[in-house]
Amino acid sequence: MKWIYIEDVAGHKDQDIEVRGWVYNKRSSGKVRFLLVRDGTGIIQATIFSAEKENPLFLTFDSLTQESSVIVRGHVREDKRAPGGHELTIHEIEVLQVAQDYPITLKEHSTPFLMEHRHLWLRSQKQHAVLRVRAEVIKAIRDFFDGRGFRLMDTPILTPSACEGTTTLFETEYFGQKAYLTQSGQLYNEATAAAFGKVYCFGPTFRAEKSKTRRHLIEFWMVEPEVAFATLEDITELGEDLIVFIIGRVLEKRKDDLDVLERDIDRLSVIRKPFPRLTYDEAVPKLKEKGSAIEWGDDFGAPEETIISEIYPTPVCVTHFPAKIKAFYMQPDAVRPDLVLGVDFLASEGYGEIIGGGQRIHDLALLERRIRENDLPREAYEWYLDLRKYGSFPHSGFGLGVERTVAWICGIKHIRETIPFPRLLYRIYP
Ligand code: 4AD
Ligand code: MG
Repeated sequence: MKWIYIEDVAGHKDQDIEVRGWVYNKRSSGKVRFLLVRDGTGIIQATIFSAEKENPLFLTFDSLTQESSVIVRGHVREDKRAPGGHELTIHEIEVLQVAQDYPITLKEHSTPFLMEHRHLWLRSQKQHAVLRVRAEVIKAIRDFFDGRGFRLMDTPILTPSACEGTTTLFETEYFGQKAYLTQSGQLYNEATAAAFGKVYCFGPTFRAEKSKTRRHLIEFWMVEPEVAFATLEDITELGEDLIVFIIGRVLEKRKDDLDVLERDIDRLSVIRKPFPRLTYDEAVPKLKEKGSAIEWGDDFGAPEETIISEIYPTPVCVTHFPAKIKAFYMQPDAVRPDLVLGVDFLASEGYGEIIGGGQRIHDLALLERRIRENDLPREAYEWYLDLRKYGSFPHSGFGLGVERTVAWICGIKHIRETIPFPRLLYRIYP
């Protein structure tokens, strides 16, 4: 008998097949027993019908508990009322293991309890839906960049220097030298961009951030494109195209998962480019108007990002920040050198920053000065300075955080559910 995945069952109508999976739930009604089996691709209702109470299949059915592993053999019947539109009439149940007291029942549990059981929580329908959307988002990102002629260039995870400030570095020992887990592949992207024109890196990044918010992870995945000769405006348009592409792909392929999550699809289908553009100078009075205590020169906190992103139905691009609140490598504005050519994309519905990027300094003397002003150890950046000595070029790039994007698309409150095993402040188990 043929082993079929539940998502493919519709193609096997009126055939005998085998499904391998776990008991999701079960119920009885008179002469019928309903077994809900999940196999990772879906859930199918498998039924036993018998007038005899002592039917051996009934006895096996009775012995099964939530999450017991089984192989179920039976006949596929179309049934519009069944979840998925098809049902399996059971001929045989092979029990692989009976699960004793599965801790996550179908009732409500507290978040700390679920986080402690994350390795099992992943099996729940909502978690399953979020992580399928995540996989689709990642595939869409790769297709987007590969389809536009970008070269994938993996950047190192162990690095000798900081990219996004020294306060959030994870330090480790590297054969007698200090090393840090990467905060961003950007600096290396700038080197590969000079070799390949347009590149992207995509991998895990680390921030030892003492922030316990619903938007911060200690370990998160970031895709970072870098384009030689691109300006701030070029890279902003690239970010818009990327977001529109990701949303389109998820709506096309993962609508069933968004339905499980009860996501308001209309909020996503209105997202078109161009996104509204707002300079930092324009944003500050808008924030004050809405009750924020921000003063010119302050960085946006989560409340400021939330206010702005609730004003517009699509993501907003905020540009031209004060230099002193941004990273050392940002190119100053030609007219207002106290501002930098950076861009942050704030997602709609209060989800906050999902993209950060901009144009990089290409002038050697200025970059040297910035490294000094930021108290960065010059030796660790010699190679980076070389890029300004040998054919320096204006260039721009950005980083998009996968988990924040997934949280926004799925409409879920907390970022911890957007990665299989979140690393959070004070949590590294499981
Ligand atoms: O704004 P960030 O820090 O920018 C950079 O790292 C640049 N070097 C990227 C570049 O230009 N190549 O981070 C970029 C994005 C943020 O917009 C956010 O989506 C995500 O990375 N991010 C986080 N996501 C989850 N948890 C955290 N602690 C995050 N920090 C940043
Ligand atoms: Mg940022």
